Amino acid sequence: MLKVLFFGDVYGRPGRRALKKAVPKLKKHYDTDIVIANVENAAHGVGITKKTLAELMDAGIDFATSGNHIFNRKDGIELLNEKDPVLIRPANYPPGAPGVGYKIIPIRTQKLLVVNVMGRVFMKEDLDCPFRAMDTILDEVGSDIKNIVVDFHAEVTSEMIALGMYLDGRVSAVFGTHTHVPTQDFKILPGGTAYVTDVGMVGPTNSVLGVDKDIILRRYLTQMSESMEVADSPQAEVNAVYFEIDSKGKASKIEKIYEVYDV
Ligand SMILES: [Fe+2]
Ligand SMILES: [Fe+2]
Repeated sequence: MLKVLFFGDVYGRPGRRALKKAVPKLKKHYDTDIVIANVENAAHGVGITKKTLAELMDAGIDFATSGNHIFNRKDGIELLNEKDPVLIRPANYPPGAPGVGYKIIPIRTQKLLVVNVMGRVFMKEDLDCPFRAMDTILDEVGSDIKNIVVDFHAEVTSEMIALGMYLDGRVSAVFGTHTHVPTQDFKILPGGTAYVTDVGMVGPTNSVLGVDKDIILRRYLTQMSESMEVADSPQAEVNAVYFEIDSKGKASKIEKIYEVYDV
């Protein structure tokens, strides 16, 4: 059996501070085997730096997934290109994009495949089909790999649910990221795949998806572009999922985690 903790998009300093408080506590509570976090917004809301990733690893995460913002900083690209990366990017970017879209992680005598893939509906990037990308990856890794977690970084609920259905019984878990808003549909699908449409973010509570609300309101009211700033919120919410994978690679348990910390 594998016990896994997965955190949604970590947003800026408030998100990192909340994560630092939450990870040791939750790791102990669940006695986890591995902790994964989506870090595409960890460095001031956009991308990752070496320093911020090191901070999150020190806090206790073992592996990181990402999304559309991960190429925004040079450090992110260098981290993706590392020989034995702890950070992956969506697998369905075109050939030539830095980094890899999946990795097999040894855990004791077992192996866990972590895959990152991105949606196409209402996303400006012109990506390969995420459904077919998953087929290709599952073919490549072969049937020996039974423990499989998929971070589906997407905007639209129907596309997220459809991929969950498509992969049901073929992977252990499909978790949505990117919208920063947690959905309530935590479930185990009929074929044994743990599923939630969006895990939600680890970031400032008093914000619009992590961003200073006044900036977003001005953008809506005036239609003038203005650079985004991380909300200066005294509290941050932690949205995560805990799940267990049985010896056959099926999900046997899924739990929603929602906590708020002073940051
Ligand atoms: Fe995000
Ligand atoms: Fe995103």
